[in-house]
Amino acid sequence: MIEPVYIIGAGPGDPDLITVKGRNLLLKADVVLYANSLIPDSMLQFCRADAEIIPTASKSLEEILAIMLDRVRSHKLVVRLHDGDPSLYGAIQEQIVALTEAEIPFEIVPGVSAFQLAAARLQVELTIPELVQTIILTRISGRTQVPDKEELSSLAAHQASLCLYLSTHHVDNVQTKLMEHYPADTTVAICYRLGWEEEKILTVPLTEMALTTHRENLTRTTLFVISPALNRIEQRVKERSQLYSPHYNRLFR
Ligand SMILES: C[S@@+](CC[C@H](N)C(=O)[O-])C[C@H]1O[C@@H](n2cnc3c(N)ncnc32)[C@H](O)[C@@H]1O
Repeated sequence: MIEPVYIIGAGPGDPDLITVKGRNLLLKADVVLYANSLIPDSMLQFCRADAEIIPTASKSLEEILAIMLDRVRSHKLVVRLHDGDPSLYGAIQEQIVALTEAEIPFEIVPGVSAFQLAAARLQVELTIPELVQTIILTRISGRTQVPDKEELSSLAAHQASLCLYLSTHHVDNVQTKLMEHYPADTTVAICYRLGWEEEKILTVPLTEMALTTHRENLTRTTLFVISPALNRIEQRVKERSQLYSPHYNRLFR
């Protein structure tokens, strides 16, 4: 009997953030194909010493599929490791089609997406009652075109909590489109390599989004979170400092 291929979400980079199920499968895997430009090598600590580890950043889909099919037909336990959650910009659709055509079973194990770690690091709720109740996960058009009806300006009109993937190269255009709808002082969190050793998070007003991204030279693995909920961070700091100011009514402390 052929084992399923496991398509596993590794989470954003911190090895502690893979699911228990994902980690247990990695511990057993004979073969691990992993997206090495988006997954740090520290994630491979869970793999068996004799596992076949295959970085896939420089491989075509055809090459990856050929390896997958060969190993699974040889009755190996094959894991395809993707960053974050595989359902988001994971290019798994092509793999699903090919595995289905080849009559190879597969199972998808979800992972923590970059936007979730961003919210955790920022210590915010992205759905604050009476302020914002919707989260939009999207990107601007790049090599992959976004359908016209999902154009960034029209999504920005909702002023929801907006999490922008794969958009650093077009940050000037992004800022211009967002400023058509979000107030200029809306806080933007620029999140670089969340969960990696070199993680960096900068919170700036929308007007400084592009400038800051260029200044910091953030050209890869950066997620933008734009949300009225983030302005509450500033408010929280102000409220806290007032609370402990000598002029504040001590009853509220
Ligand atoms: C190909 S997409 C994959 C997204 C992934 N499946 C997820 O759920 O997070 C890669 C983009 O996701 C975002 N991203 C993924 N991991 C990230 C991380 N650790 N820190 C910041 N952004 C990240 C960046 O926008 C990056 O360009």
